[in-house]
Amino acid sequence: MGRDGWLRVAAAAGCAAVTCVFATALVARRVKAWRRWRRALAVLRDFEESFATPAERLQRVVNSLAIEMFAGLASEDASKVRMLLTCVDSLPDGSEEGVYYAIDIGGTCFRFLKVELGAGSTIINQKVENQPINEELTKDTSEDFFNFIASTLKNFIEREGDEGKALGFTFSFPVRQLSITSGSLIRWTKEFSIEEADGKDVALCLNEALARNGLNLQVNALMNNTVGTLALGHYYDEDTVAAVIIGAGTNACYIENNEAITKCQGLLTNSGRTVVNVEWGSFRPPQIPLTPYDICFNNETRNYYDQGFEKMISGVYLGEIAGLVFCKMAQESDVFGTDVDGLATPFILSTPCLAAIREDDSPDLREVGNILEEHLKIPNAPLKTRRLVQRVCDIITQRAARLAAAGIVAVLQKIGRDGTRCGTTQVRRMTGVPKRSVIAIEGGLYQGYSVFREYLNEAVVEILGEEIAPTVVLRVMEEGSGIGAALLAAAYSSNRQDSI
Ligand code: BGC
Repeated sequence: MGRDGWLRVAAAAGCAAVTCVFATALVARRVKAWRRWRRALAVLRDFEESFATPAERLQRVVNSLAIEMFAGLASEDASKVRMLLTCVDSLPDGSEEGVYYAIDIGGTCFRFLKVELGAGSTIINQKVENQPINEELTKDTSEDFFNFIASTLKNFIEREGDEGKALGFTFSFPVRQLSITSGSLIRWTKEFSIEEADGKDVALCLNEALARNGLNLQVNALMNNTVGTLALGHYYDEDTVAAVIIGAGTNACYIENNEAITKCQGLLTNSGRTVVNVEWGSFRPPQIPLTPYDICFNNETRNYYDQGFEKMISGVYLGEIAGLVFCKMAQESDVFGTDVDGLATPFILSTPCLAAIREDDSPDLREVGNILEEHLKIPNAPLKTRRLVQRVCDIITQRAARLAAAGIVAVLQKIGRDGTRCGTTQVRRMTGVPKRSVIAIEGGLYQGYSVFREYLNEAVVEILGEEIAPTVVLRVMEEGSGIGAALLAAAYSSNRQDSI
């Protein structure tokens, strides 16, 4: 071999060595990346396991909630669910007529309604005005809070140019009522926290604010949003036995026989029945372990370790659970890159974003990418990261929807409409003539998030079984809590109500 030959061999050997070094470095980098990715997958696996709600566990949730409901009717403070008596013993009968106003407080915005009713269960006209909630107002003083509501109502009425016959007030927090026109706030939920309002009569507070604003209206019916929704449901369909809210918060109410309400022996009502506000948000299902994410975000909330069921189901909280899972993944791996400061802010991901992530069905998950970039400041996330993010949102949605379904079946079980004969047997069988049970539902999570709705509907069928499920109808009541308030104000101000 000549000089040239040796040089060629040396050059080739040099190239091979350099290639070898690069290749080794590349392999090492890939191995590292793969390990990090596996750590993210491990977080996902643990999370998935801890959020699982197999049918048999859901059934046990149903049983415990039904038992809590029995206990809550037996005596005050005997149960995690308050089972509040609403003083509603009869519902609108469809003969109400005239113009009524309603205020609906407790969701994602304040709502003001004018409803024109015609005989024969006809809503001739309805006008709804939404007022976004300024966060300061949810922490200030009760005087500011109620003044704001009264002055906004005044403007609304002035614009409408019609005084109205009566006012319904939907106040969607736990309230102890002694009459249909009064009730004292037990405590705030859903991150509202005007502490000095605890224990105050909220109808009186509003009446005083209305007077201060020169309005000649008083609250004719005070109610929870579940009760308003039940009133509208019953107005359209007499088989409506309960109402459920799944929105910013969650809760249910139903029609109970007075004999079952032992904590209030001798309760006198015209119909022998009373609407009970379950306040199921404060239920803590013992079968559903609190995961590290539930614990961590409990510490961030205003009413920590209270409202356990609500925190697993409702709109104020689901986005934040996802945010915490992403934080954990970012800690354990580099799936979100290195600049993850955007994830550190509590409540950075809203539930509507979580829903949009889950519902993105574009092949490249474009919407997921946009949300990661805009809301969490994570640009250019690769497709596999977007898929991971979507899966997390799916798991959270599924647990929430299935637990809400268990809640609904528990109410049916309590009133003997689930096929188990008042929960005495675990086998659901049709006995006697099947009774149709309509559940009126309202709330953005159920109405606006189709995946949530499908999971919930499926789980109701899964728990009830194919024979009983067709007797249960879940019926959406658009604006139920507000229109229902106007209906109850009409019914209670005219004394024309239907026995329930
Ligand atoms: C409140 C209930 C309300 C539910 C739905 C809960 O936080 O305690 O009174 O019905 O939210 O808005």
